[in-house]
Amino acid sequence: MTIKVLIAYASKNGSTEELARTVARTLDKEGFVTDLRPAADVLDTEMYDAVVLGSALYTGRWLKDARRFAARHRTALAARPVWLFSSGPLDATANERDIPLVAGVRRIQARIDDRGHATFGGCLTADAEGRMARMIVDSGKGGDFRDFAATAAWAREIAADLYRLLVVARED
Ligand SMILES: Cc1cc2nc3c(=O)[nH]c(=O)nc-3n(C[C@H](O)[C@H](O)[C@H](O)COP(=O)(O)O)c2cc1C
Repeated sequence: MTIKVLIAYASKNGSTEELARTVARTLDKEGFVTDLRPAADVLDTEMYDAVVLGSALYTGRWLKDARRFAARHRTALAARPVWLFSSGPLDATANERDIPLVAGVRRIQARIDDRGHATFGGCLTADAEGRMARMIVDSGKGGDFRDFAATAAWAREIAADLYRLLVVARED
């Protein structure tokens, strides 16, 4: 049985894309067929059995491409299992405690009834786009706080949940 999972992401400087790739690779290894795409490039979600949508956080919001994706595909998303992730905190807090969700993500959750959300540490380096990014790096607050093992572990939880939801249910 083939179960197709879309991993859609919005990333300005590439670090969220790498987290999304970790989710996709982990689900691949768990036996799912994955499609990793920038959220802005996805025209149709109907052919997927499940969706993972992630975005970088900038000034307390998801990037526009992820917000638009959630709005455009809301009917399809509400009809299938969906997981969300945010990447952002430039410190270790994402590994230490639950990070409060930004308001826009809570609104998306209310519309699509997701199966879970995770916040992962972010990454900001000297080559990041934008004056604000450079100011943050210059003030010594940049760095790479991503924990790929934690992201892979979260994806394995998704795999277990999907297996119960879709594989076991279809066999019954
Ligand atoms: C201008 C600016 C604003 C940011 N705002 C937030 C924020 O509100 N919350 C947060 O957790 N991280 C924030 N970050 C950190 C980014 O989310 C982090 O660098 C992330 O990994 C960027 O992802 P990307 O490389 O995929 O664009 C901000 C970074 C910049 C440069």
